[in-house]
Amino acid sequence: MPPLRYELVHRLKREFPHRVIGINGGFATDDVVLAQLEELDGVMVGREAYHHPWWLARWDALFYGEPESGLTREEVEERMVAYMEREAAQRGTAWHSIARHMMGLYNGLPGARRWRQVWSDHRLKGEPPREVMRLAHERLAVEA
Ligand SMILES: Cc1cc2nc3c(=O)[nH]c(=O)nc-3n(C[C@H](O)[C@H](O)[C@H](O)COP(=O)(O)O)c2cc1C
Repeated sequence: MPPLRYELVHRLKREFPHRVIGINGGFATDDVVLAQLEELDGVMVGREAYHHPWWLARWDALFYGEPESGLTREEVEERMVAYMEREAAQRGTAWHSIARHMMGLYNGLPGARRWRQVWSDHRLKGEPPREVMRLAHERLAVEA
């Protein structure tokens, strides 16, 4: 990763205030994002969003003043399963090529590793994703 030069981005914004300027690289908490938004028009988050996607669940409320979705992780996972089913039916997409991008969903909670292991177990690739979800939750329950 190249050195992060936030100050250079802030200077650009000061020199070209009418330009829409966003920043990215290394942001991982609400506070640092909010601080950047004091000076800039936008913040992009890469790795933290991927590894801890539950952080995003608060963003509509925090940054846009919208009501919280109220969804639980399990409800989000359920919707992902429905999406996997739809994609499989419509395009023949293998569920695991979708599931691999939600591996961070339970990160930080007890049992997250076991849950992830089930979803990424190649021996289960022939099972329907709803069944994989059921098995993954058996493992979550063991550690919860
Ligand atoms: C899962 C993932 C996918 C990304 N895809 C792209 C991409 O398609 N194009 C791109 O320019 N950068 C991409 N990036 C890089 C990010 O936009 C960002 O520049 C980089 O991750 C540094 O920000 P971060 O510290 O918040 O991760 C991706 C990063 C991640 C983690």
